[in-house]
Amino acid sequence: MHKHRFLIACVALASTAHGATSPDLYQKNTSQAIAIYQKMTLDEKIGQLIQPSYSYLAQSVSPQGEACTKILRVAKADEATITRSCGLDLIKQYHLGSVLSGGDPYYNEPTLANWVALNALATKEHRIGNPLDPRFLIGNDAIHGNVHVEGAVIFPHNIGLGVTHDTKLVKQIGSVVGRDSLASGFNWIFMPTVAIAHDLRWGRTYESFGQQGELVKALAKAYVGGFQRLQGDKLLGPLATAKHFIGDGATQYGFDEGDDAYTGTQTDFWRLNGEGYEGALQAHVATIMTSYSSMDDSHTDNATQMHFGGKWDILKQFTQTGITGTDGQAYRFSGIVVSDWNGPTRAAYFYSKKHPALTLSQTMAKTINSGVDIIMVGQTESINPFDHQSKPSFTSLGDVFTAIKTAYEQGLISDVRLQDAVMRILTVKLAMNPQVPTDYAALQAQERQLALKAASESLVLLKNDHKTLPLNKSQVKYVLFSGETNDLGLQNGAWTVTWQGQKSNRYFTGKNQISSGALTLEEGIKASVGPGTLFYHGDEALPRDANASNSVVIALLAEVPYAEFTGDIANSQAEDPWYLLNAGRPNGKPGTNIYMGLPQNHFMGLRFSDKQAMTIARMKKQGIPIVTVIYSGRPMILNEGLSKAPLPNSDALIAAFLPGTLGGRALSDAIFGSYHFKSKGQSNTLTFPWPQDMTQVADHFSKGALFPIGYGLAD
Ligand code: BGC
Repeated sequence: MHKHRFLIACVALASTAHGATSPDLYQKNTSQAIAIYQKMTLDEKIGQLIQPSYSYLAQSVSPQGEACTKILRVAKADEATITRSCGLDLIKQYHLGSVLSGGDPYYNEPTLANWVALNALATKEHRIGNPLDPRFLIGNDAIHGNVHVEGAVIFPHNIGLGVTHDTKLVKQIGSVVGRDSLASGFNWIFMPTVAIAHDLRWGRTYESFGQQGELVKALAKAYVGGFQRLQGDKLLGPLATAKHFIGDGATQYGFDEGDDAYTGTQTDFWRLNGEGYEGALQAHVATIMTSYSSMDDSHTDNATQMHFGGKWDILKQFTQTGITGTDGQAYRFSGIVVSDWNGPTRAAYFYSKKHPALTLSQTMAKTINSGVDIIMVGQTESINPFDHQSKPSFTSLGDVFTAIKTAYEQGLISDVRLQDAVMRILTVKLAMNPQVPTDYAALQAQERQLALKAASESLVLLKNDHKTLPLNKSQVKYVLFSGETNDLGLQNGAWTVTWQGQKSNRYFTGKNQISSGALTLEEGIKASVGPGTLFYHGDEALPRDANASNSVVIALLAEVPYAEFTGDIANSQAEDPWYLLNAGRPNGKPGTNIYMGLPQNHFMGLRFSDKQAMTIARMKKQGIPIVTVIYSGRPMILNEGLSKAPLPNSDALIAAFLPGTLGGRALSDAIFGSYHFKSKGQSNTLTFPWPQDMTQVADHFSKGALFPIGYGLAD
């Protein structure tokens, strides 16, 4: 028998934070959780602390998970074959308490039925391996809708939800997305991102609601409340996650996974980055995810401290004693802390640059001791992320399991900490009472309605000379489309079925188009105008009678979809971050993204192409109004590049950010006046300042901004 069996459980029931005496939502389940904890074997406890991705389970069985991919993509296999080939039996073997789905699907057709089946098989393994564990957790990145399922309704990304300023709507969205996730078998959502993006070059800016802490706090509270649907003491929805703790949006130059070069006090740092966690906690958020970002100005010094506890032990404080929030209230987090995807081993690499290299056991111990309860094991990764040829940090789930167990047995992880971590997980699990929706079609109908409202409220009218908008649909005889007006991939952005997103309408045609309500900009306009209207594309000439009152050019400019670091705008003034160094690749050049194989952008502007610029100049000569729509994950530079700059060359310009599947309809409603733009402290107003040029991409430039926070024209 292991010594942990003799532990007298002494989990602090006492204080929620600073003087509060009643146990919080999760701590109320302490006595029930202790009863379970005391019966669990050490292996069962360790199993609670590991969360592999489905793809990692599959990789543990065959290289790159080929066997699993083959079966899920090609053949219709029986349950036993899927379980074996996809490594689902490892859930039983290692007594795992959770799993996650990473960004990419495992199916050619990631349908609802496929996900339900896979998640049910995984849960079955859990039931056999963990009879004592109250619930198996299955995590997903429902970043803007239940995105893993093809044909799901896709909502605007957070940047657009910020523009709505509509807490009631965001709560409703959380509720339907939560239910949709439950319907597909997922009961843990890795959302909302509560980052304040301080530098627009950051490739995750669109995951941020905006730069005003108060707004982020309010929307975080609303979203979490919506996802989790707390009723009495029980969560009827899935678990939500406030991420990435903390300062993920505060890195120097906006480098993803970079360093927060902040030198002020902890209070200042919290004021600039922490308010989202206050809102999330007010809604009893069950989990938080740690950040990859570090708290020092160099990856070679103390940079790993963020992962291992924080320069000011900020994670420890938040989870143990509590932090005083910007509102003077005490905030102590008693739920589950999960690491980011392979966060601990990535941190260990940077740590090793100035310290003796850590063993896997030491890495796990440092991570867990800093307050991380669940280690997310995403994929096999090289010890040195600069060198893909270097040996992997771990080669199997067994390595990670043994490393944690050894750390415990060697005393690197104390009994008290092991108990704290497992108890956090169990008390949260005991608070769950998920209600799986029975009428999925009705749920999707409700989602489409909410997504349309959100998409409409997320549009910002930046320019509207001579009251170009709204157009009178009964007068519009000719429409010329310019740019990729028929591409849903651009409209949805990343984290849409696939991690990086994709150009094209691939997952949203046929029945999927109906269920998701997907309409491209072009389809939306075509559906809105009268039957007699004629359509033209590119540089086609309009008929001779085309004029200002019967014609319009609808021009689209867009960033291509990107997720995480692939969307960073590299900055020549700074040393390139690790993922741009490309070492270890035969023809690698600095500045090339090791994941994308593409050189990074150094300019954050959108311009018309040569062809578009010529067409637009021609149309302007004819006096035909130009209405430009922009799809982007952040405010872009719009007035550089003279003849090709969209702002001076458009009569009306709408920043649509990434509005989701209902974006095309929302835009056509706004263009033809069945939706009216609001202004001043309401929806349709900016939550980031809009830069004039590249000197204004880091925050606190509001004064000289092209458009300040709060800007947005009414029509
Ligand atoms: C991202 C997280 C995400 C996780 C799981 C990480 O790379 O930073 O936001 O939740 O992957 O997919």
